[in-house]
Amino acid sequence: MTHNLTNQAPVSSSAKGTRETAYRTLLAQIESLVDGETDLIANMANTAAAIHDTFGFWWVGFYRVVEDDCGADATRQLLLGPFQGPIACTRIPFGRGVCGTCWQREEAVIVPDVHQFAGHIACSSLSNSEIVVPVRRDGRIIAVLDIDSTDYDAFDTTDRHYLELICECLAR
Ligand code: SME
Repeated sequence: MTHNLTNQAPVSSSAKGTRETAYRTLLAQIESLVDGETDLIANMANTAAAIHDTFGFWWVGFYRVVEDDCGADATRQLLLGPFQGPIACTRIPFGRGVCGTCWQREEAVIVPDVHQFAGHIACSSLSNSEIVVPVRRDGRIIAVLDIDSTDYDAFDTTDRHYLELICECLAR
């Protein structure tokens, strides 16, 4: 177990079972929250809040894939969506940072130490590890779910598994 700078839930291997139980409860909660609601942004907002409330992670939020209409050539970017936590960068290009890398690789990215990840975009100096999971609709990535922890090595394949299920449920 490592330091706990905030209200963040400490992570230890012995807490893995507890975490899994918490994820199962969370998944059921999110399924019920999004049931019958088709607005993706509203569903993202409640999902970010539910994950944040459950685990107390430092930052939990979504970046949506949008057209960048600022330049002459329209390109797609990630645009900040609903989140819980401190202020964050607004736009992230394809392939940049952990979020853009997840989008480019089309798979979840787990970063045990963000300071060792080339190109990591530091929105908060207190963030030490991160997980980013794609949100797919009809096979296309429409957003990513980004979670930051003040602990190093806070995320593993259990987080990935349940967060992927949550993202599936969200974009159904
Ligand atoms: N660290 C992310 C940027 C978003 S913030 O963490 C909220 C990245 O490298 O893509």
